[in-house]
Amino acid sequence: NSPFRSAAVLSDSYSTEASQLADIDWDNLGFGFLPTDYMYMMKCTQGGNFSKGELQRFGNIELNPSAGVLNYGQGLFEGLKAYRKEDGNILLFRPEENALRMRLGAERMCMPSPTVEQFVEAVKATVLANKRWVPPPGKGSLYIRPLLMGSGAVLGLAPAPEYTFLIYVSPVGNYFKEGVAPINLIVEHELHRATPGGTGGVKTIGNYAAVLKAQSAAKAKGYSDVLYLDCVHKKYLEEVSSCNIFVVKDNVISTPAIKGTILPGITRKSIIDVARSQGFQVEERAVQVDELLNADEVFCTGTAVVVSPVGSITYKGNRVSYGVDGFGAVSQQLYSVLTRLQMGLTEDKMNWTVEL
Ligand code: COI
Repeated sequence: NSPFRSAAVLSDSYSTEASQLADIDWDNLGFGFLPTDYMYMMKCTQGGNFSKGELQRFGNIELNPSAGVLNYGQGLFEGLKAYRKEDGNILLFRPEENALRMRLGAERMCMPSPTVEQFVEAVKATVLANKRWVPPPGKGSLYIRPLLMGSGAVLGLAPAPEYTFLIYVSPVGNYFKEGVAPINLIVEHELHRATPGGTGGVKTIGNYAAVLKAQSAAKAKGYSDVLYLDCVHKKYLEEVSSCNIFVVKDNVISTPAIKGTILPGITRKSIIDVARSQGFQVEERAVQVDELLNADEVFCTGTAVVVSPVGSITYKGNRVSYGVDGFGAVSQQLYSVLTRLQMGLTEDKMNWTVEL
């Protein structure tokens, strides 16, 4: 039941196809969907175990209109990246962390989930089958999007009787249209992303649909994205629509503590470890919105976003700026250490990368 064998069976020209570079404009990748050659699929019934996963030609999938994911939002997603090294080999960044986070989310959403090993093997197989879509070094990365969804039919509210684990990939460049230039955020103080006891701490699809209204309004006013506050006190920072947030003051780095309403980002966790390894003091705590006023630097982290400097934040009509030229000194240092490690440009002393 090797996914590698399935790919070879699917296409006689598989190895040739996978070894050449796709014919696209590698210099102008943004964060938009580009179809590739293969996707990975694995199914499971409620109460059963995932098995018989295989690669398939990339394409539309069939779903019963009554599928749990379509009717009741029973679904999760993950995001991770693969980088091409100068020697042609591919590096994945901490794929087991995504597998573990999916398992925690699945438990919250009453879904079965692949084992860590199944998840990582499926990611590897999908990346290798789509190798020609991994950007050349320095041009971007292959974004890997694992999905877990209730694909079986339900009508009354209940967990779906069948689940589908699917992985597709797309080559990407910078997430924000600003590139690596600083982004401008607006603090949202009426709409909230998550509530205590809710699902804000897992990567369920509904969390992302819930922020579209505030995000669209912000973009219409020229902001890059929205920074959310806690819904109880309405004064503590939570996260940005698609990433976590960090505030730097006097070389001390602070980020909102994980408490069930904030996504435990893998880049967040990695940046904390990188910062500590570089000698910085890092505090995971309740960060008040007022602290933005006299911060030296603010930056965001996420798989898609990587590390993104924040140029300004607007809160209740008041705008505070943090320098418009690029990264601040602290975020520049952390960005550089993290991305050099992810791209295989420095020795991986953390043991975070997986080479294919
Ligand atoms: C990621 O950074 O991988 C995410 O899942 C955020 C998404 C909105 C692009």
